[in-house]
Amino acid sequence: PETPPPENEPVRAYAPGSEDRRSVQERLRELRNQTVEIPAFVGGTPVYPGSTSEVVPPHDHQHTLGEVHQSGKATVDDAIDAAMEAKAEWAAMDFSDRAAIFLRAADLIAGPYRDTLNAATMLGQGKSIHQAEIDAACELIDFLRFNVHYAEQIYRDQPNDSQGIWNQMQYRPLEGFVLAVTPFNFTAIQGNLPTAPALMGNTVLWKPASRSVYSAFFFYKILEEAGLPPGVINMLPADDGAAVGTPALQSEHFAGLHFTGSVGTFDHLWSTIGDNLDTYRTYPTIVGETGGKDFIVAHPSAHVEQLATAVVRGSFEYQGQKCSAASRLYMPESIWPDVRREITSQLDEVTVGPPEDFTNFLNAVIDQRAFDKIVGYIERAREADDAEIVYGGDYDDSTGYFIEPTIIRAHAPKETTMCEEIFGPVTTVYVYPDEEFASTLPLVDETSPYGLTGSIFARDRAAIKLASDVLEQAAGNFYINDKPTGAVVGEQPFGGARRSGTNDKAGSAYNLMRWVSPRAIKENL
Ligand code: ALA
Repeated sequence: PETPPPENEPVRAYAPGSEDRRSVQERLRELRNQTVEIPAFVGGTPVYPGSTSEVVPPHDHQHTLGEVHQSGKATVDDAIDAAMEAKAEWAAMDFSDRAAIFLRAADLIAGPYRDTLNAATMLGQGKSIHQAEIDAACELIDFLRFNVHYAEQIYRDQPNDSQGIWNQMQYRPLEGFVLAVTPFNFTAIQGNLPTAPALMGNTVLWKPASRSVYSAFFFYKILEEAGLPPGVINMLPADDGAAVGTPALQSEHFAGLHFTGSVGTFDHLWSTIGDNLDTYRTYPTIVGETGGKDFIVAHPSAHVEQLATAVVRGSFEYQGQKCSAASRLYMPESIWPDVRREITSQLDEVTVGPPEDFTNFLNAVIDQRAFDKIVGYIERAREADDAEIVYGGDYDDSTGYFIEPTIIRAHAPKETTMCEEIFGPVTTVYVYPDEEFASTLPLVDETSPYGLTGSIFARDRAAIKLASDVLEQAAGNFYINDKPTGAVVGEQPFGGARRSGTNDKAGSAYNLMRWVSPRAIKENL
C-alpha cells in the first residue's frame, strides 16, 4: 500500500508569550540543569568503552551538558558484527514495515520530542530557536517522510515486459554495511545520513560529529522508541574520527560511505577506500557533501532591499556555519552604497549572544578551533593592503565563542577571504564596475574550486540568463533573487559537484538510489 504523499512540516514561530515558546524554554532549563551520559550503541545495547569527553555549549564553555564515551577499535569491530547480524532480517522486512519505523520517528519529533531536539540543538550546537526549528524539527521530519515517498517510487519503478517475457528489477541493499559520518551543523543532516541507507534495507555504523553528539544521542533514542531493531543503526561517538573510520574502512564488509563534513576528511576517507579496494567484496558506494565558497552576484538591476536582506540572512544565520552560507559577494559599483547602507541598518538591529535569549539573531561559533580560525581571517583583513573591514570585526571568547557579523571588502577579486572557506560570520564583498558584469561572471566561476550554492540578484532577465549559463557548473543549488541557504526537502534537493561533493542530492530519489544495488531479472513465461 502506498503511503500518503508527504507535506512539509510547518515551521513554528515561537512568538513571545506563546505556549510553544514557554514549553521550549522550560526544556532548555531542564537540559541545562542535568548531565547526560552518552554511550555508544552497538546492537541496540549501550556500551561504555572507557574514556570520556565533555559536551560543552559553545556559548558557555565553562558549563557541561554531558559526558560522551569514546568508541575505539573494539567498539567498532563489535558494531560491524552487530550490523552484519541484523542485516538479513532487516533487508527481508517488508518495505512498508521499515518505512513505518521512520514515519513514526518523524511523528515523535513533530510531537513529543520536538522541544527536546530543538533545545539540544540550541544548547549543543549554538542555534537560535528559529535555526533549530527549521533544522532539528522541520527538515529532519521532512527527510524522514519524503525519503519514504521517494523510496516507494524507486521500488515501484519496474522495466517493461514483452511477449512471453516478464522483467523485474529487484532493488537489493548494498552487500555489507554503510558508514555514515555526520556533521555538527545540521541535526537534520545528522539524522538523514544514517536513516536514508537504513530505509533502503542497509545496516549502518554511524559516527556523529564530536560537536553534535548531544543532539545525536536524543535522535538515536527517538529511533529506538520508534521501533528500530537492534543493530540496524549503531551509534559510535568519538572525538578522534579515525578511531571509527580506520577500522570501519578496513573491514571486508564495508560497502558504502554517506558523508557530510570537511573536504579534507572526505579526501582522506576516499583515498583510504581506494587503498583498501582489494579488501572489499564490492566497489563501495561513496556519497559525500563537503564545503562551499558560496556566492551572491548582484546585477545593477537588483532590488536593493531584497538583496541586502539576502546578504544578511544568507551570510550570517547560524553564524555562517552552513555549507550553503554566502561568503563572497560581487556588487556593482552603482548600487553598492545603497546596499551597504541597508545591510548596515539591518545588522545594527541584531544582537549576538546565548540561544536561551530568543532575541539574539546570532549565537556562538561551534568551538575554540573554529573561533581561532575565523578570528585569524578577520585579523588578516585588518592588517592586509588588499582588504578592509567595513562592518563588525569584534569578537570575545571569555564565556562563549562569540564573533560579530563581519563584512570584509576585498580590493582584489582573488583576495584570500574571497577564495577560502571560513565557515563563520564573515562575508567578503568585491565591488565591480557596472560595465564589467559580463566579465565578472567567469571570475565568479573560477575563483573557487567548490560548486555548492550561489545566487544571482537581477530584475533584468538577460542578466539572469547570462549568469545562469556562465555559472552552470558553479552551484548545484542556484538561486534567482533569493539567498543561497535554506533548501527545503521536496522542493530544492540539495548538493553540489566539483569539490563540494558527489552531488547526490540529499532528500531525493537520486540519493536513495545510491543505497541499493539493482538486479534485473528476466523470466521466460
Ligand atoms: N540544506 C542546507 C541549506 O540549504 C545546508 O542551507
